[in-house]
This record gives sequence, C-alpha cells and structure tokens, in this order.
Amino acid sequence: MSTKTLHHLGKETNQFTRPVVWRSFIKKVDWGKIYTDFVREVQGSERIPQMNINVKDAVKPWLRNTIKDFPVDHHASLEKWFSQWLGGDEFCVLFDRITDYSEKIHEILTSTVLANLGEKDLKMGADSYAIFGNYGYTPFGIHPDNEPIFLIHCGPSTKDVWYWETEPEPTITGRTDLLESNDEWKKSAVHIVLEPGDMIFIPSRMYHLLYTPDFSITLGTALFPSNVSSLIRSGIAHLDYQPADNLSLFWSEKESIEVQYGSILEKELNSNEKDLGELILQGVLDQRSLLQSNGGFIGNPTGEKHEAPVNFEKACFRVKKNIEIPMKRRGSELYLYLRGKKCRLNYHPSIEKAVHFIQGSSKFSLKDVAGEMEDETVALDLIKLLYRNRGIETACTCQVHGGVK
Ligand SMILES: [Fe+2]
Repeated sequence: MSTKTLHHLGKETNQFTRPVVWRSFIKKVDWGKIYTDFVREVQGSERIPQMNINVKDAVKPWLRNTIKDFPVDHHASLEKWFSQWLGGDEFCVLFDRITDYSEKIHEILTSTVLANLGEKDLKMGADSYAIFGNYGYTPFGIHPDNEPIFLIHCGPSTKDVWYWETEPEPTITGRTDLLESNDEWKKSAVHIVLEPGDMIFIPSRMYHLLYTPDFSITLGTALFPSNVSSLIRSGIAHLDYQPADNLSLFWSEKESIEVQYGSILEKELNSNEKDLGELILQGVLDQRSLLQSNGGFIGNPTGEKHEAPVNFEKACFRVKKNIEIPMKRRGSELYLYLRGKKCRLNYHPSIEKAVHFIQGSSKFSLKDVAGEMEDETVALDLIKLLYRNRGIETACTCQVHGGVK
C-alpha cells in the first residue's frame, strides 16, 4: 500500500465542515483478498458483527445468524459468496466494527485516516464499517448522518455519491421510490463518481446518497463528535467502579429509576469515598486509554493471536504501529490497556518499567525485557500477554543480542 501524499485531514476539510474528494487516496491494495480474509475471520470468530442486511429491497436481519453456514473459501468470488449466503442476487449489506475482524484494515485506517486527522486528541474515537452491495440506492434514501464520515471506495466497480451543500427539500429525503422515477432530485446535488482507491469526506448532518451500479465495497470511518454531553455519557458508560448489574435506567418507571440511581450512588460513593464527578472523569480517561490502545478505534480485535507459532525466546518484537499501551495503577493493581481491552495485573514496579521500556524501543527481545525486569519468567509472561492481545508483533528473528543483525 502507498499513499500519494501526506495529508492533514483536519485542515483539508476545514475542521471537518466541508466535503472533500481525494482521488487515488489509497493505491495498490488487494481489497478482494482483504475482505475475503475479513469474512473468513468473521466465520472463525465467536462473535458476529452487527449488520444491516438488505436483499432485493427487503430487510432480512435474521440472515445474520447464517453467516457461518457457507465457508467463503468455497466460492469463486466474494460476490458469489454473498449471493449464496443471502439467497439473492441483489444485496446491500453493512457490517460494523470492521477493524475488530481485520488487522490489515485497522492498519490502513489508522495510518491513512486517524493518524492524519490533525490534532491527535482522541476525545471520542472512531468506528469503522463496510458496505458490500451490487445494486441500487442507499436503502433509506437521501439522509444525513450524525457523525462526520470518511468513505474509502474499494471497488471493484465504481460508486456514485450525491451530496447536498444546503438541506434538500424534505419531499425528496428518506425515500427511494422517487429516486428511480425521475432525475429532478439530482439538480440540487453535487454528483461524484468514486473510483477504487478514492476517498470522500462527508461532514456530519450533510445530506447524501450512494448508488451502486455493480458489485463493490465501500469502507467507512465515522468520527464520534466530541461535545460535552457525549463525553459525559462515555464517562458514565465506563464508570471506573461499574457495578455488576449494569445501568438499565432508561426504560424503567420513574420510581424504579430513583431507587436504582440512589442505590448506585450509595454503592459507588460510600464504598469508594469518591464523588460522582470524579468517577465519571475517570470513566472518560479510561475510555481515552482504551481508544489510544486501539489506534483510536472503538472495539478490540477478535480472538487471541495463535496463528504462526512464535519462538518467544528467539524473536524480536515491536509495538504495533499507531497504538499505545497506556497503564494505570490503582492500589495493588496495575491496569494495562491493550487493543481496546483492560487487563488487570498485580502491581509491581518492574512491570511498569518493562512496559515503558517496550514502548520506547523500536524493537526488543525477551532477553532485553528480562534484563529490565530482572526476571525472565515474568518477562516471558508479559510478552505473551502483549503478543496474544495484538499489542506487539514480531519484528524479525535476529535476536537483538547474540544474533546476526
Ligand atoms: Fe450515510
């Protein structure tokens, strides 16, 4: 993969307020292979991503449960696999959390989009999704999205995009029947044809519409808005001392809300001697660490890494690109944030020291880490933990000490 030039996406989009098209933003990527690997990963995973499934203009959410029934490897093409799985030749499927299932796409998006946003202040993070389709307009017609989005078109066919710089007449939005019947609605829009590798930015709340003439895939990155209320909500969702029974306030009776709220406050405040504001703040900071540990994307990679057995004694490792390994100490516990997961360890200063060392090294071996920690067994456990959670990867087998460099 190569990118044409370095971008500053904040500047180029006027701080995410203006639509922009970048031609050949991403070149020389084998998207067919990447998405076939993605489907294979989904099929081998214990989780199933959220998705919206449309087949011939009908919404068929139950097909989500049959995605593992037809192994993708038995098909001549991805499009044929979709047709068999969905039982129809015309489809449009949107998958969420693509980066959980594809390290390759995680790398591409963190390097080309998230790393270039400008001020790297990840307040709310990003989510990724992909639209696989071979016919028709966006199923819900002309619409705005709450989040600003970057769409990378992956092909193989082209994709038509219309966007409206001012709000369109309400008579043409939110419906698809009229789109086929006449061309009047096109007059008020800007029309772009995306070729594979092109990227378009659509600001939040800007009305837009996609049209798919033939099979293609489009990869979206949605940035979460960073206003005060969403920050507070994310803090509440990540309350540091989240009680075992999760908040289920929102559809309850008023009285039951008051009781639950009271008991949560009592439990939280009395046992921890902290104020609620502080707990929410810690929740926001926790969320921030989770995002940093996963390159800015919400979610975490599916499954532990077991393929390609690694000789932990001989290999050199490095921290994966665009990610960090934040730590937080709380009393006798040490939390490591690893690719969107929070891992709890018993606190020991040598672990903190080793993680700082690992983050500061361009590459390192078991011997290096053992030297920092003065304990080879614990060093091996730490490296295995980081590796299996995809926080580090192998760099080479040169053995920084004692091998051929
Ligand atoms: Fe949209």
